[in-house]
Amino acid sequence: MARRWTNDLTRHDVTPEHLYLNRRTLLATGGVLAAGAAWPAQAQTDELEPNSWEEITSYNNFYEFGTGKTDPKENAGQLTTSPWSIEINGMVDKPGTYAFDDILAQMDIEERIYRLRCVEAWSMVIPWRGFELADLIALAGPKPDAEFVAFQTLLRSEEMPGQNYPILDWPYVEGLRMDEAMHPLTIMATGLYDKPLPNQNGAPMRLVVPWKYGFKSIKSIVRITLTDQMPETTWNKSGPEEYGFYANVNPNVDHPRWSQATERRVGGGLFSRRIDTQLFNGYDEVASLYEGMDLETNY
Ligand code: MTE
Repeated sequence: MARRWTNDLTRHDVTPEHLYLNRRTLLATGGVLAAGAAWPAQAQTDELEPNSWEEITSYNNFYEFGTGKTDPKENAGQLTTSPWSIEINGMVDKPGTYAFDDILAQMDIEERIYRLRCVEAWSMVIPWRGFELADLIALAGPKPDAEFVAFQTLLRSEEMPGQNYPILDWPYVEGLRMDEAMHPLTIMATGLYDKPLPNQNGAPMRLVVPWKYGFKSIKSIVRITLTDQMPETTWNKSGPEEYGFYANVNPNVDHPRWSQATERRVGGGLFSRRIDTQLFNGYDEVASLYEGMDLETNY
């Protein structure tokens, strides 16, 4: 818990810099509007604001509650999220079951405004509340030879109706390399705006890794395992050619069935248009984690 990332991301920082500069140029030179039509200024203004509570909580992916975007909101209300505990095991000095309330009491909760970019090419800007995953891992005392972190979602088909169907191999699992997990941008989210996390967004606690595609952000976590083996991940098991372990946001590496070069902001309104997707979703500070790696083979 020594080294903390300062939360200096503002609503301006979540905007790719070139768009922000373009907007200022547009405003300064007014005449460009005639050439570029009215939409760029509108779209870029929207880009500075987080999505609304309504947008963030009613357009979701949470296949345990159905595959439609509105299914999680409709079906997740029945999930019991209290009491809740997380098992932390594997290569740690203090393996055990940690009660969610005890974890919360020990963590520094702060707001992080992050972009979330999904493979289906939509994105949102979300004001999460949460704490750094590194601080949670530190509680359990990671052993120095741990290389990866594996995560598992709750398996409870009575409350998660999607688990009664073989849409995915349940329970949902994900993984990160240890340095990705310990990076100060990686958080466990426990809230949205100033409220506890709604069930459809992964209550009571879900991962958020802002430079990776949304599917890495596993919801309603019940187990964290430190290991020296690269963990299995649900979407990689379901479609290995389409979903790799790394899943870094990368406009230069297309999904086999669609381009990943652009995205559309959810709730952009009438003037919504596609914006360029940024490498690492614009979070350049993580680039050093992948130095020397071929990001086309490690997709
Ligand atoms: N976690 C679980 N357990 N089950 C899921 O189906 N969907 C993932 C991820 N986490 C998913 C999950 C995908 S594909 C995305 S895009 C994000 O959750 C969506 O998060 P949001 O609904 O909070 O926007």
